[in-house]
Amino acid sequence: MSPDIGSTSEGRKRPPRTYPPNSSSADAHVLAKRPEDADAAVAIAYDRRAVDYMRLGGSIELMDPRDCGLIARWRDGTPGLLLDAGCGPGHWTRFLGEGGREVVGVDISAEFLRFARQDHPELRFELASFSALPVEDRSVGGILAWYSLIHADPVDVPAVLAEFARVLAPGGSLLLGFFVGEPREPFAHAVTTAYFWLAEVLSELLTDAGFEVTFTEQRERRPGEMSVRPHGALIARRVPWAR
Ligand SMILES: C[S@@+](CC[C@H](N)C(=O)[O-])C[C@H]1O[C@@H](n2cnc3c(N)ncnc32)[C@H](O)[C@@H]1O
Repeated sequence: MSPDIGSTSEGRKRPPRTYPPNSSSADAHVLAKRPEDADAAVAIAYDRRAVDYMRLGGSIELMDPRDCGLIARWRDGTPGLLLDAGCGPGHWTRFLGEGGREVVGVDISAEFLRFARQDHPELRFELASFSALPVEDRSVGGILAWYSLIHADPVDVPAVLAEFARVLAPGGSLLLGFFVGEPREPFAHAVTTAYFWLAEVLSELLTDAGFEVTFTEQRERRPGEMSVRPHGALIARRVPWAR
C-alpha cells in the first residue's frame, strides 16, 4: 500500500468543495476553488513531507507483498507503455519498469520527482497533473494510480478519469488503489485531505468515463500495517468502442 504516515497538523480535513453545476447553492461558485489550486495544495503538502514519506514507504521492500503480487500480475498482463500516475518517489515506477518495460512516472510534487530522478536515473519522470497528462491520446497501455487519486476532490474525479481515458489505448488498463470507506467522505490523511471510496461507486464513474471494471478487491488492515484504513483496489479496462 501507500503509507498513511501518521497524523500531523497538516493532515486536517478540508471541507468538501461544492462545484457548479451540480451544487444546490446558487452561491457555490463564489466559494469554489479551481482544480489547479487543489493541485498546488497537494504538491506543497507532499513536497514538505517527501523525506518522511520516503523513509516510511518509499521502497518496494516496505510494500505489502499482496500489493506487489497484484501490481506485478497487472504489469505482466498489460502491454505497452505503463504510466505511474502519482508516482511519488518512483519505487512503483521502477517496479513497473522491471524487465525493460517502457514506463513514465508522473507526479505533481517537484520534491518527489527530484528524489525519483536521483534514485532511478534510467527512468523517465514528468512533473505534471492528472488534469493534463504529458502523453498523446491513446498512447498508453496501462495506468497505475496507486493511492494517488485519493486526494482529488470528488467533484474533480470524473475529469481525471476522462483524462486517463484520453491517454489510454483502446483496451488499455487502469489499476487504482484507494482507501475504502463512505464514498466521497474526506478524512485527515497524514499529508493532506484524502477521500474514501467504494469500488461500486468508482465503477459507476468509470463506466461513465468509458471503462469497464474487471476486478475489485477489498481487505481490512492487520495490526502493524502503515494504515488502519481498509484497502481497496480495482482494475478497469478502457472500452475500445467508447468515444
Ligand atoms: C499517497 S501518495 C502515493 C504515491 C505512490 N503512488 C505510492 O504508492 O507510494 C499520492 C501521490 O499522488 C500525487 N498526486 C496527487 N494528486 C495529483 C495530481 N492531481 N496530479 C499528479 N500527482 C498527484 C502526490 O503528489 C503523491 O505523490
